[in-house]
Amino acid sequence: MIAPDPLRHARITALGEHRPAGVLTNNDLAGRGVDTTDEWIRNRTGIARRHIAAADETVITMAAEASAKALAAAGLDPRDIDLLVLATCTMRNPIPGGAARVASAIGAGGIGAFDLNAACGGFCYALSVAADAVRTGSADRVLVVGSEKLTDWLDWDDRGTCILFGDGAAAAIVEASDEPGIGPVAWGSDGLGADLVSVPVDDWAIRMDGPAVFRWATTQLAPVAHRACKLAGVDVADLDAFVPHQANLRIVDALVRALKLPDRVVVARDIADTGNTSAASVPLALSRLVAAGDVPSGGQALLLAFGAGLTYAGQVIRIP
Ligand SMILES: CC(C)(COP(=O)(O)OP(=O)(O)OC[C@H]1O[C@@H](n2cnc3c(N)ncnc32)[C@H](O)[C@@H]1OP(=O)(O)O)[C@@H](O)C(=O)NCCC(=O)NCCS
Repeated sequence: MIAPDPLRHARITALGEHRPAGVLTNNDLAGRGVDTTDEWIRNRTGIARRHIAAADETVITMAAEASAKALAAAGLDPRDIDLLVLATCTMRNPIPGGAARVASAIGAGGIGAFDLNAACGGFCYALSVAADAVRTGSADRVLVVGSEKLTDWLDWDDRGTCILFGDGAAAAIVEASDEPGIGPVAWGSDGLGADLVSVPVDDWAIRMDGPAVFRWATTQLAPVAHRACKLAGVDVADLDAFVPHQANLRIVDALVRALKLPDRVVVARDIADTGNTSAASVPLALSRLVAAGDVPSGGQALLLAFGAGLTYAGQVIRIP
């Protein structure tokens, strides 16, 4: 048996995103009979609108769109990819998973492919798995995709949930690199909080204890962010960007305060136009910052994802 190259590291080299053309504003929601107002939603969540997938747009088609764009951005052929990890919690059916179908849809049929369900924490879990696969020599190039169609799982009469979520997908290409580009992951879970966000078996829609999740996110996650920085040997003051899960703008702002991030650190606030897209939220937010030129290529960004499970994961990356 030969050992993997000890100098081999991993980094994200390109991103691609898919935001469905359909847009639902807060006023549209109120107009549909949801007992809410634009003012309440903006003040309590920071959300103004969210993208809504069409009937023929699925977790798989959105993942394929985002993946194709990431491949084009990297100048790669689909056959250059040898592993695809699909982070999602909103497939309509548990079997079969979606990853193999995404791989076939983009012209990469036959490669290693699996789904990973850590709900809104999923992208950072999947990124960690991908980085380890590259570092150990199990794969040379990995597509890590977060794709969610949350609107398939919403009860439009439940104003505590239906105002929060949106649909979309984003993909990252992870490749071998001479320098470290994806830091060790700080991850964890709390199964005792499983009932706080769930689709109960006798139900079909997401149910949530919003205030309890809010308290958890604003009190328990800053130490995870600190641990991710420590594992990467990076001081929070030296970060260029902070890209947390887009669950609620008040949660984002509370984390920024708890971490005492300097003003110069760019903070992702994609939620206003996107809502909470679960496993797609962190890569969509990162992709928007990169596309807008708001963050320096090669700079250091802290990713932090968290959600149902409860699960959480974060790592420092080099910005592609
Ligand atoms: C869901 C969430 C936005 C609710 O905001 P909140 O400030 O905690 O509000 P509460 O649930 O305490 O409700 C406050 C009041 O607003 C009302 N309210 C709730 N949703 C409302 C809505 N969409 N429109 C208008 N009023 C609403 C409540 O009925 C309550 O009224 P009352 O005081 O008369 O009883 C917030 O708790 C949250 O974002 N939690 C985290 C959710 C999350 O991140 N989930 C995913 C994890 S990945």
